[in-house]
Amino acid sequence: MKIFLDTANMDEIKKANSIGVIDGVTTNPSLIAKEGGDFIQTFYDICELVNGPVSAETIAQDTQGMVREGELLSQIHEHIVIKLPLTTAGLAACKQLTDRGIKTNVTLCFQASQALLAAKAGATYISPFLGRLDDISHDGVGLIRDIAHIYDNYGMKTEILAASIRHPKHFVDVALAGADVATIPANVFWKLFNHPLTDSGNTRFLHDWSTVPNNNIEQQVQEWLKNRI
Ligand code: E4P
Repeated sequence: MKIFLDTANMDEIKKANSIGVIDGVTTNPSLIAKEGGDFIQTFYDICELVNGPVSAETIAQDTQGMVREGELLSQIHEHIVIKLPLTTAGLAACKQLTDRGIKTNVTLCFQASQALLAAKAGATYISPFLGRLDDISHDGVGLIRDIAHIYDNYGMKTEILAASIRHPKHFVDVALAGADVATIPANVFWKLFNHPLTDSGNTRFLHDWSTVPNNNIEQQVQEWLKNRI
């Protein structure tokens, strides 16, 4: 499963990207608004930093406007993926942009029928929002599972990009449910690394190693290599 970061904050992206496991970034109008500044420059800077797809969302509500905005945004950088809302106008725009070779991410998906239509419109990614479904007592992970099943039934190539992820369990659950990508906020990304047994185990290993004589690995390996020649 690929991991995208769900933020437009450059510091968060830089820090997470330095680990080497981030495959792309998603943004939305709310995330861009939160950062302020020049949004075009922000898209460009994210694309230059991350070696993978970066979603930039259109604002127009009619097909023609979405296609125009999509064509313009896609000229910012080759990594740009055009994010379109899952409306009838959005799906028509998705079809037209796909036909022109532009990658798309159809967003705000809340039921499997919408995901099937997005795949038929040629979407590169479909973004089901599981957290927002869970918020209203629906089964967000169940939606990912249903979409994966339907796409498998028909060999549909659209990638399932699980969005609106709120915590590490969501991340694992969508991996089990067959998501191709999980897009996660930075705070969830850092939580994925942690386990108290990892910390206590590491402390124990360090303590035990401190009892080994001549325990400097660098020095000892260099010495050993020199003596071997
Ligand atoms: C990603 O593409 C979505 O815009 C994002 O995951 C929405 O998350 P939220 O429900 O936490 O706002």
